[in-house]
Amino acid sequence: MSFRLLPRPHSPLLSYVSSTLFRRWNSSAPFNPHKPLQWTSSPSPGWKLGDGASKAFSEHEHALRKTWDLDKMSTTDSYKLLTSAIIPRPVAFVSTLAEDGTPNLAPFSYFSMVSHNPPLLSVSFSLSSRRPKDTRENILATKEFTVNIISEHFIEAANATAVEAPANVDEWIISGLTMEPSSLVKPACVKESLFSMECQLHFAHDILDLENSNITNTLVLGLIKQVHAKESILSKNGMVVDPGKLRPVARLGGNTYARLTDTFDVPRPAWKEVRDAVNELVGRQR
Ligand SMILES: Cc1cc2nc3c(=O)[nH]c(=O)nc-3n(C[C@H](O)[C@H](O)[C@H](O)COP(=O)(O)O)c2cc1C
Repeated sequence: MSFRLLPRPHSPLLSYVSSTLFRRWNSSAPFNPHKPLQWTSSPSPGWKLGDGASKAFSEHEHALRKTWDLDKMSTTDSYKLLTSAIIPRPVAFVSTLAEDGTPNLAPFSYFSMVSHNPPLLSVSFSLSSRRPKDTRENILATKEFTVNIISEHFIEAANATAVEAPANVDEWIISGLTMEPSSLVKPACVKESLFSMECQLHFAHDILDLENSNITNTLVLGLIKQVHAKESILSKNGMVVDPGKLRPVARLGGNTYARLTDTFDVPRPAWKEVRDAVNELVGRQR
């Protein structure tokens, strides 16, 4: 009996490890998980009504504007362009069960909050011609899912679940993450996630290709029935989440993610406080 200790020269394991190492060597700054989030001033703290953009616009001011007609672009190019610009996108880490009980876990960045009354979130599934999205199938069949916010401490594990594995492959095992039983729905929450939402299917809408009416995406609205937050991420009053403790990861274009590094407050103007200044500004324009 011979034992193979090293992976074969062209094995997927070897290429995954070498590409990961290559990226690591190539990355410029090492990650410091303990660096606190900085509270900074806003970009132009002296801004007054009518001031417009800051001087930072000057580097773009004379650049030519390139224009694309989306109906003349390939869907691959429009995907790359739009996902590089509509950023940063939060990532829903969605846990579902197939009708036969097979668990599934995958990340989705076509994700947002839709309303708080009722509390709804949206996730959109792009349909691949190669295979269905198991998460979509499971939600439409079972009407239940959990959405878990991804923090820096498990981004690699979450990213690994995006692998296009056959439906019977359990991505929980690939990730090494842990199931935390939910209270109201059958799919588990992700124990390592600091903020999880138990959802019921509220609405699903197929989006059609404008040329041949094939389904290209399915938009799902989830009714958030219950949320779970680790007390360690809550602000002092215990009712909201402190972003510096949640340390959420956002998706940019391609394989690029982003973390929060600093935050700033910009107070929202109250009409009664700015009315006189606005009237004066408008009067000057006449
Ligand atoms: C960060 C990230 C975000 C993603 N966002 C989406 C998305 O919004 N919609 C989508 O259809 N696929 C998205 N994908 C791809 C799916 O995660 C991938 O196709 C996965 O295999 C789907 O798993 P499933 O078939 O088990 O549902 C994303 C992948 C990554 C890594």
